[in-house]
Amino acid sequence: MADIFVSRRIFQEVIDMLKEKGHDVEVNDSSRILPQEELIEKTRGKEGLICLLNDTIDEKFLDACPDLKVVSNVAVGYDNIDVDAATDRGVIVTNTPGVLTDTTADLAFTLLMSAARRIPEADRYSREDKYEGWELMQPHVGVDVYGKTLGIVGMGRIGQAIAKRAHKGFDMNIIYTDIERRKGVEEEFGAKYVGFDEILKKSQFITIHVPLTPETEGMFGGEEFERMNDDAILVNAARGPIIDEDALAKAIKNDQLRGAAIDTFEDEPDVNSKLAEIEEFVVLTPHIGSASLETRLKMVKMAVENMIAGLKGKEPRNIINEGVL
Ligand code: GLV
Repeated sequence: MADIFVSRRIFQEVIDMLKEKGHDVEVNDSSRILPQEELIEKTRGKEGLICLLNDTIDEKFLDACPDLKVVSNVAVGYDNIDVDAATDRGVIVTNTPGVLTDTTADLAFTLLMSAARRIPEADRYSREDKYEGWELMQPHVGVDVYGKTLGIVGMGRIGQAIAKRAHKGFDMNIIYTDIERRKGVEEEFGAKYVGFDEILKKSQFITIHVPLTPETEGMFGGEEFERMNDDAILVNAARGPIIDEDALAKAIKNDQLRGAAIDTFEDEPDVNSKLAEIEEFVVLTPHIGSASLETRLKMVKMAVENMIAGLKGKEPRNIINEGVL
């Protein structure tokens, strides 16, 4: 049976699943991200790699690991993998879509609300024992969420889950942009398909749910912030490089928009220091969109099932590069 390398610590029960199938499994049983040279050293000679979104699987890696048959990414996003290069070399690539949709939408909506209602600021204030009694003009008066206009950039699975929450729970007026029009979503959630410019100009909240591609990289920069409402809050639980973070910090400081809730950073694990300096209406979290125990377990189980199928020569349920078969 094939040898598999797992690039980071994952649940033991799924390692056991692989072993039960007769695979030899080696795990980097730590939270340390292996530098690419080390990842190559560990993967070379193996047929399967289970990796995370911060492992770079590019041409250099693939050429150095010629025995590799399956790369199973434990994430829905796969911008860390050169899929074309994998296809050219006959390597199957899989991801974990669907199982994290609601968890990620919950987080994005939590971020939106936390920024609007200034929860982290209020939390810090309470812990620092600064609360001296209820008053009308409290220091953490925020802004309402219900009934506002929400611009959704990318109406895929997660975008739609956000639309459902916004429409059913918060009576929000939804406008969206996407590479295609989604009539079903329009009917179900009263969403209106508009151009990107209208999203920028009309939204009081904007939430990003597109993959990172050459087209979406830097989609939000200085010019876009200039066109946004000065009361807008921007939410990003997709991929950091979609936003120019320095320009975002500058725009918030210049009152071009009210704030931001950011879960993914341009240069992870670095958290942009200019954004971190801003206390008001800014919330920062360390890429925890899918981070619930239940969902993380579902993701690794799915990744392992994809691996087992791929190594058996069957088409994995979540294959990205079907053309490879
Ligand atoms: C997380 O960001 C994922 O792509 O699964």
